Amino acid sequence: MRTEHRLEAVGPAERVLDRAATAVAHPNIALIKYWGKRDERLMIPYVDSLSMTLDIFPTTTTVRLCPDAAADSVTLDGAPARGEVGQRVVAFLDLVRQLAGRTEPATVDTRNAVPTGAGLASSASGFAALALAAAAAYGLDLDPTALSRLARRGSVSAARSIFGDFAICHAGGGTGAEADLASYAEPVPVPDFDPALVIAVVNAGPKAVSSRGGMRRTVETSPLYAAWATSSKADLTEMRAALARSDLDAVGEIAERNALGMHATMLAARPAVRYMSPPTVAVLDAVLRLRADGVPAYATMDAGPNVKVLCHPADAERVAATLGAAAPGSSVVTARRGPAARLWTEAER
Ligand code: PMV
Repeated sequence: MRTEHRLEAVGPAERVLDRAATAVAHPNIALIKYWGKRDERLMIPYVDSLSMTLDIFPTTTTVRLCPDAAADSVTLDGAPARGEVGQRVVAFLDLVRQLAGRTEPATVDTRNAVPTGAGLASSASGFAALALAAAAAYGLDLDPTALSRLARRGSVSAARSIFGDFAICHAGGGTGAEADLASYAEPVPVPDFDPALVIAVVNAGPKAVSSRGGMRRTVETSPLYAAWATSSKADLTEMRAALARSDLDAVGEIAERNALGMHATMLAARPAVRYMSPPTVAVLDAVLRLRADGVPAYATMDAGPNVKVLCHPADAERVAATLGAAAPGSSVVTARRGPAARLWTEAER
């Protein structure tokens, strides 16, 4: 009886008892940061942000519908996803089901090539891959803009990982459904700009304060937040012009001041939100030394202690060696601009 009821609900044409999709997405690093949500339920950011998608650390996620299961089951790197991570995935599936008018539970299997929750943008690649795979598995036909909106509901930075290379995420305006429509990502075409991003992983462990909690506290208590949000607007305008000129020095300077400003707002929160640790500062010092030695290198940092350094590809080896020496015990990896999120082809299954 149960089976008949289910088939009636979804319609005979959609009798797909084993519907699955696998998607791959890459993390992105923001050159103009997003920090703070003006609507936490709809995941609407206060500020626009602009990022470079990387060619390393992909997330691969399979969503398989399980009509006979009692509930969703979520696996992260081979182990059941516990606590907040699992809850966020199930909440995201609920949203996809609501949009698709479906009810079947699913299994989600996610593999991250990067430590989860360490400020290395695993939530960006994670929710971009989940959005793409879940939309396909539940039969939602979305264009990339709509997919970016959907990914944003999982993690704002994920909206940008739907696209490769450089992408902007619009904060938009309005409230409710209007705000949801107005906040999405889109590509920023910069064909001639292909810098290296050298990442010093000084600590791959999970961060003490989630970005969600850290940004909430910053918005609610930091007297510097409004000033940073205002200056970030000007940074974005200058950044777009610098990218259009493929001007690495200008891009780097703007990215570095924007990130340091974001960390300053966090430090002024009450109590302070501090992601930097002594090795972070040692790496920042090394970046200053590189510049003093005539090597254009510029740092950015997210909600974690790790430092990402923008430079010319020809300097990447020297930059990597310098950063590694500044923070003994760290690992250093170099990324370039990377591809858009995509579904696996038949041949890859
Ligand atoms: O989207 P979330 O919750 O992972 O927050 C990301 C925030 C930063 O990485 C610090 C900045 C950004 O724009 O990616």
